[in-house]
Amino acid sequence: MSNYHIKHLEEYWQVYRKSVRKPENFWEEIAEEHFLWRIKWEKVLEWDFSKPEVTWYKGAKLNITENCIDRHLTTRANKTAILFEPNDPKEKAQHISYKELHKRVCKFANVLKSKGIEKGDRVCIYLPMIPELAVSVLACARIGAIHSVVFAGFSASALAIRINDCDCKMVICSDGSYRGAKTIDLKVIVDQALETCPGVETNLMINRTGGEVTMKEGRDTWIQPLLDTASADCEATIVDAEDPLFILYTSGSTGKPKGMVHTTAGYMVYTGYTFKNVFQYRENDVYWCTADIGWITGHSYIVYGPLANGATTVMFEGVPSYPDCGRFWEIVEKHKVTQFYTAPTAIRALAKEKLDYVDKHDLSSLKVLGTVGEPINEEAWHWYNDHVGKRKSPIADTWWQTETGGIMISPIPYSTPTIPTFATLPLPGIQPALMDGQGNELKENQVEGRLTIKFPWPSMARTIYGNHDRYRETYFSTFKNMYFTGDGARRDAVGYYRITGRVDDVIIVSGHNLGTAPIEDAINEHPAVAESAIVGFPHDIKGNALYGYITLKETGEVRDQDNLRNEINQLITDKIGPIAKLNKIQFTNGLPKTRSGKIMRRILRKIAEKDTSNLGDTSTLLNPEVVQDIMDNAI
Ligand code: WTA
Repeated sequence: MSNYHIKHLEEYWQVYRKSVRKPENFWEEIAEEHFLWRIKWEKVLEWDFSKPEVTWYKGAKLNITENCIDRHLTTRANKTAILFEPNDPKEKAQHISYKELHKRVCKFANVLKSKGIEKGDRVCIYLPMIPELAVSVLACARIGAIHSVVFAGFSASALAIRINDCDCKMVICSDGSYRGAKTIDLKVIVDQALETCPGVETNLMINRTGGEVTMKEGRDTWIQPLLDTASADCEATIVDAEDPLFILYTSGSTGKPKGMVHTTAGYMVYTGYTFKNVFQYRENDVYWCTADIGWITGHSYIVYGPLANGATTVMFEGVPSYPDCGRFWEIVEKHKVTQFYTAPTAIRALAKEKLDYVDKHDLSSLKVLGTVGEPINEEAWHWYNDHVGKRKSPIADTWWQTETGGIMISPIPYSTPTIPTFATLPLPGIQPALMDGQGNELKENQVEGRLTIKFPWPSMARTIYGNHDRYRETYFSTFKNMYFTGDGARRDAVGYYRITGRVDDVIIVSGHNLGTAPIEDAINEHPAVAESAIVGFPHDIKGNALYGYITLKETGEVRDQDNLRNEINQLITDKIGPIAKLNKIQFTNGLPKTRSGKIMRRILRKIAEKDTSNLGDTSTLLNPEVVQDIMDNAI
């Protein structure tokens, strides 16, 4: 029996049982049979969650790009590896074969080397969804440099924080980006960021939009002339299994963003294995994930997972609504997409549009659908199932996190029967547990609790860059010897998991994780603001939107409230990016606090949700009078 490709439910259970009974044997077999190693491991797994320290495939040596590119050259040289669909439907799509990808990655890697980048150096990549984004990621991996991709919607100061946190020596960016009808000047943002990044020696520039840019002598270089003359041979640098592959920042509920460090071998094995099973990929399929490579979904399931399986992976530069709301479906028809993986927020936005946008396209190529990023509501699930999948393509509702590296809980299409809103069952090797508030495991079914993972899996993040204490504190201190996800979940009578949402101060807006603390810090920088508290409230497209309660220094009537609201949102845009803007801003005379001075967000959350029937006992608050006032003036 092959463990690698699960094809029916009984097989899933057999494989799952084996994977938890003998995890080392299970992951050894997968690694041995399906990946390319220069030197095999001495030991499959060592772990201690109390430190926490986790080592997979100790002693093994490899290069992930040999797994993702070189090994396919014998059988798939002319197969399309990356299928690039530009923002403008009139611009031609690019079919980049494995052979061509190999050449482009090697040339790019040689340019990195010529600019002094060595194994272990950090390189920040700030690019739109153009082929060079995937190529530069792989070029770093080719030479053992550590990539830190920053989503190209982040502001200059958010970019600068991420560049400085991990001491990047180099930035790779483009002159601009296309998003629908808009052209965005990325170079201006990078220039501003680099004013506060003294460690950056080189800024390699890709020409995408052809706009005017100012080049800083000695720092900024156009890459094209360098690529033209670079050699197309670049020996892969052999790295250790546990050498870092990349850093990717995610929001925490407090403090600065966390640079999650992912290492090489375990990440490769797990993303490769889960890609094959969750998407049921077959040789001639055309797989499309609509995420951006600036997020973990793009890292694991646009680049590494698909390429490790020799797949054809679509990269889309644009947005779902340009030139009209049928764009996704037009692309599915045009490229005969077989697997389509997107976010609930996109589904909800498109479900609001005329059905004709979907119905006029031939979607018969689709075999598997996926969703990720937030809980999918029942209505959106049915719309996706009825109108996109035509009730014949199973939906994989995939639960996972930046920290987990790969999909953890998900149906295996054509094996696991699906139920709307349920991520269903753990993938092989994943041992979830639900915990109550007292730290006891809830072993029965039909329970709800905090979602934890009891046993290591190969693609888990190993640390937070530069702050291992914070890593232990955030993920391994809430429950002894367990990884705590920060999510709540319910397990139903048959053992299916349904993720109920975050139980900490992270709010998921349009599938993006936003910590409340950094947004509040940005708001509090406004000279008129005394203090602020952000909570989430349900929004029919974004899933959640942000509601800000803001107390001003000057009490009394705020004269130009709208102007102040705009200034506050502009400040958030400058500090973090437009994704963190507040939908509603209420000016308050105070914020409800406990006697120790902690803001009672639970109360604010209920008011924002317009559910004030059960606010609990507010009489013990330091300032109970503000609650009524906030309720009276709620938006
Ligand atoms: C949420 C994205 C419900 C969850 C891969 C998690 C989900 C956070 C699902 C991680 C899902 C992701 N159902 N909730 N299928 N997938 N989440 O780090 O709260 O951007 O903790 O990783 O998104 O978001 P991140």
